[in-house]
Amino acid sequence: MCGIIGYTGYREVSAVLIDGLKKLEYRGYDSAGVALQGSEKLVVTKTAGSVDGLKEMLINLADSHLAGIGHTRWATHGRPTEVNAHPHSSCCEDIALIHNGIIENHSSLKKWLSEEAGHVFRSDTDTEVLAHLIEEYYENDLLLAVRKAAAKVKGSYALVVLSAKEPGRMVCARQDSPLIIGLGERENFVASDIPALLAYTKDTIILEDGEFASITKNDVQLYNQEGNIIHKDVFKITWDVESAEKGGYEHFMLKEIMEQPVAVRETLRQRLDMETGEVTLDELDFNQEELANLEKIYILACGTAYHAGLVGKFILEKLAGIPVEVDVASEFRYRDPIINKNQLAIVISQSGETADTLAALRLVKSKGVKVLAITNVVGSSVSREADQVLYTWAGLEIAVASTKAYLSQLAALYLLSLYFADKRSGLANNLAHELAAGLVALPGQLKLLLNDDNLQEIKRYCEKLAKWDRAFFVGRNLDFPVAMEGALKLKEISYIHAEAYAAGELKHGPLALIEEGVPVIAIATQKHILEKTLSNVQEVKARGGDVFMITKKAFAESFKKGEACFYLPDSAEILMPVLSAVVTQLIAYYTAVIRGSSVDKPRNLAKSVTVE
Ligand code: F6R
Repeated sequence: MCGIIGYTGYREVSAVLIDGLKKLEYRGYDSAGVALQGSEKLVVTKTAGSVDGLKEMLINLADSHLAGIGHTRWATHGRPTEVNAHPHSSCCEDIALIHNGIIENHSSLKKWLSEEAGHVFRSDTDTEVLAHLIEEYYENDLLLAVRKAAAKVKGSYALVVLSAKEPGRMVCARQDSPLIIGLGERENFVASDIPALLAYTKDTIILEDGEFASITKNDVQLYNQEGNIIHKDVFKITWDVESAEKGGYEHFMLKEIMEQPVAVRETLRQRLDMETGEVTLDELDFNQEELANLEKIYILACGTAYHAGLVGKFILEKLAGIPVEVDVASEFRYRDPIINKNQLAIVISQSGETADTLAALRLVKSKGVKVLAITNVVGSSVSREADQVLYTWAGLEIAVASTKAYLSQLAALYLLSLYFADKRSGLANNLAHELAAGLVALPGQLKLLLNDDNLQEIKRYCEKLAKWDRAFFVGRNLDFPVAMEGALKLKEISYIHAEAYAAGELKHGPLALIEEGVPVIAIATQKHILEKTLSNVQEVKARGGDVFMITKKAFAESFKKGEACFYLPDSAEILMPVLSAVVTQLIAYYTAVIRGSSVDKPRNLAKSVTVE
């Protein structure tokens, strides 16, 4: 996730920028850079390395600067190289800017700027378009040029811009990406995150979407889209540095759970037309013949990513009519699988560095099978070695227990299913339409689901669950992978021994373990199998099991008043695993908190499993 810091004031500018960037390092990055503004020109220094490396590079620069901007980049468009690092400059190098977000219409803007306006581009980034666009509109008023450029741009941005012709002035803009102004005495700051400015000031102004700011050391002016001056209240930060990094949440895991509406929206952005529901995956280039001849798909992954693959099997088979086999990568690589060129392998990995997933990828490639990777990390080993990549764009995930990356893997798999279905047989079925419409509504529904009342309801249930050392998760059909993921999450962070079973399997063994009070979390979101799951639930209840149902509002009349039920918002049935997974994540989270375990860094586990 990229980080932004900007400063103008009486202190040594480069020192403030480096300090701010150091405070943003926890968010992860692959390259960094600063632009320092003297009285006549801008000096840009960038590296594909660390902030410490950048600091070394700045040692010999005389410090008589009036303002500066600094950035840590987490690659999206273009590899993590020095050229692609921010700040990006205009042709004449008298405009420099840093940007968080994605410029969706960068290709058409770049075409226009280079072919018709003669701009020369240096990097592969979407961001560079902004520098040239602002240069194109610049007539001695940076704010006006930024406003004009913003009006042309589609996408998300937190933007800070310097002009060599306006010493000591920073101009900022925000749309769908956070930007905070820090207020000081004879100095002012701008940052993407509070930790970057907390050492200097606690007085801030939070910029909202469509707002602009012009910042000098003695003045901060705020503007709306029309260029009219607006006034906003000063927000006093009461957090310490540690809680500021977590966005005010107690743990990164909770922060990441709460970020899921945005993470899913980012996965869908630019790929799903929010009005027509049409899917375009420009990054993929399967030809028609390849897809028509596709006999089978293998999905290979580990842990939570494997569970995403299990959901993927249901949806790919249902929508695209392609048989899918899902394998744990560590098993697949040693089982001598029967594979051939008319098959496709999909590897799923948040980090893109998991050793077993990488080995499975190499094995199928060695047999001539094409590999499509679904990953969150640009430039990761998996992304480099796969033939095609579908990035999840969930943003950096810090908690060991994966949450938002999982949901965005599911979103990517839904998109992929619609894409395959469309290419193979067209989308003339109701299920595809229902799914596309459901996806459009999904970020909003996730937001609704994460409301405070729901969090409190789940927390109350966890008070009871936390007293036990064992628990069961059960479900059938699409609810079963969610049960598996729920059990993994609970055991991983609360250390409760949690087992997942296909509900129909209970009577084949595990029912022997059900006795008075044993917690059983039952997931029932699929209509055609509802009665079956409910009879399994009765078997559990008859033996004293304490059942907590995760179900949907539409099924409410199947349950008696007073039964422990959590009702999910109604969505397309095929999409319910996304919503029910959030409830199981929250169950794991609150139970772990109540039991006092180390939520973000559970014992014996690592975020990236680069060993076998
Ligand atoms: C569990 C979890 C792990 C990972 C697994 C694969 O919460 O995060 O099970 O899913 O280690 O990691 P990636 O997706 O990075 O390949």
